[in-house]
Amino acid sequence: MALAGLFLITFLFVHLGINLLLLVDDGGELFNRAAHFMASNPLIQLFQWVLFAGFIIHMIYGIILQVQNWLARPSRYKVEGYSHLSPFSKFMIHTAAIILLFLVIHLVNFFFKAKFGHIGEVNYEGMVLEDMGGLVRAQFQETGLVVFYIFALIILAFHLHHGFQSAFQSMGWNHSRYTPFVKILSTLIAILVPLGFIAIPICIYFNLA
Ligand code: HEM
Repeated sequence: MALAGLFLITFLFVHLGINLLLLVDDGGELFNRAAHFMASNPLIQLFQWVLFAGFIIHMIYGIILQVQNWLARPSRYKVEGYSHLSPFSKFMIHTAAIILLFLVIHLVNFFFKAKFGHIGEVNYEGMVLEDMGGLVRAQFQETGLVVFYIFALIILAFHLHHGFQSAFQSMGWNHSRYTPFVKILSTLIAILVPLGFIAIPICIYFNLA
């Protein structure tokens, strides 16, 4: 579960890097070219299946772990709220459920539309590409969707904050010298990655990019 989680975080970095191209003031060309490369490169297409497997493995192990925790602790603590764990750790299954809902909506809006629907096309010097950037821009005109994205990405921040550092613990990578660094890195990732994603719908909605 920890390995799959770290793998998914790596995907988030790549996905964020490509999505930030949407903010480049070039009418979406750079983003569309990058999206086309990702969609047409056979190695990346293969990697996509590994990614989906990573999500499923991470979810299955997460559910098993949660059920084991519930079974190991049938009655609640006498003093409610007393725990040595961080507040984020207690809500991993709840934040995960919201992220799953986000993913389903996200894939329906973008991935399935690109794969099975019809989206507009653009012509760059004779090269005809799908206008994936246009699709993202059109979606982020909707207030409800933008608000939902911001909410889900804040939830992702909480999930990442605990998830990243606990992955190191789960794998036994614990060391008095390195663990504080892992915790700081965890906080940085939990803030910067969701903030980067949040910037995209906000900039598009408010016409800042
Ligand atoms: C503002 C934020 C985001 C934007 C604009 C965005 C945009 C997109 C687009 C356009 C696609 C379709 C790519 C294609 O099929 O060619 C896509 C796919 C996908 N997105 Fe996002 N995304 C965002 C955030 C996220 C987040 C936070 C996650 C994970 C928690 C995520 C997970 C995925 C997955 C798993 C796919 C399918 C695999 C792939 O095509 O790479 N996305 N996204």
